[in-house]
Amino acid sequence: MLDSIPTVTLPAGNSVPALGQGTWNMGEIAARAKDEIASLQAGIDRGMTVIDTAEMYADGRSEKLVGKAIDGRRAEVFVVSKVYPWNASRKGTIEACERSLQRMRIERIDLYLLHWRGNHPLAETVEAMESLQLSGMIGAWGVSNFDVDDMEELLAVPGGKNVAANQVLYNLGRRGIEFDLLPWCQERNIPVMAYSPIEQGRLLHHPEVVRIAKAYQATPAQVALAFLLERTGVIAIPKSASAQRVAENRDCVSLDITEEDWKALDAAFPPPDNKKPLEMI
Ligand SMILES: NC(=O)c1ccc[n+]([C@@H]2O[C@H](COP(=O)([O-])OP(=O)(O)OC[C@H]3O[C@@H](n4cnc5c(N)ncnc54)[C@H](OP(=O)(O)O)[C@@H]3O)[C@@H](O)[C@H]2O)c1
Repeated sequence: MLDSIPTVTLPAGNSVPALGQGTWNMGEIAARAKDEIASLQAGIDRGMTVIDTAEMYADGRSEKLVGKAIDGRRAEVFVVSKVYPWNASRKGTIEACERSLQRMRIERIDLYLLHWRGNHPLAETVEAMESLQLSGMIGAWGVSNFDVDDMEELLAVPGGKNVAANQVLYNLGRRGIEFDLLPWCQERNIPVMAYSPIEQGRLLHHPEVVRIAKAYQATPAQVALAFLLERTGVIAIPKSASAQRVAENRDCVSLDITEEDWKALDAAFPPPDNKKPLEMI
């Protein structure tokens, strides 16, 4: 029996699993599509039902691939997609959302994010997001790569307080948000989606992560993901195009790391003691 995945409650009151799946780079190469679809489906089978994509990924082909992976099981999945900042005008946001829905062949995106800040005024983007939500084309909206000052600006525009998530770079090696952005979001019950949770694979060779993984007969990826699942209101979205690695990532929920080993990880990856500008990949 698998340990269940912890959940995170969105501002609207619905809960989603704290471990989902990323799709950056999926759909780039046709010969890989079969494995990519199979790995997303293996994740859904195991309860990793938050699937994160974007109009940017593989120029829309990632969304097409997600559409194929969830065909026939839409109701099981919580679909997240993102609008390019240069499309995020009042009209452009709605048109981009329509294109994303068509590519995925679905009627609603559960959470639609502004991918990063651009030149369109936040008030315009929020107005578009709110109207998409009213029309039922999206379930909720959020942002990505927003630091505390961006979030404060967002909350000050009409409707801005309805933001449902902020997706940012967060992993053991990138702990800057723990100083301010993470507690800021936690205090306001705004979930943080942690992208690149295993630092695109680069964390997996760190000697301390390897040492701790061995001590628990676990893998470095499981240690990196367990670190994120310890945090309140954090949803990790590792990407893997291998069903076997997806299953491995899913099993991170069974890891029970001791206080002593968390302290060893803190020593190897010290939490911030001052403000760090938000990092991006
Ligand atoms: N909002 C944003 O600006 C933004 C930016 C970056 C990412 N994201 C989102 O966050 C998702 C995750 O981030 P990411 O794709 O950058 O990086 P990631 O999830 O940290 O790492 C993905 C890489 O790690 C490998 N991998 C996954 N599980 C593994 C395991 N158990 N053992 C060994 N290698 C493993 C994958 O290879 P295989 O596929 O071969 O397994 C892939 O090369 C993205 O896919 C995307 O959806 C959002």
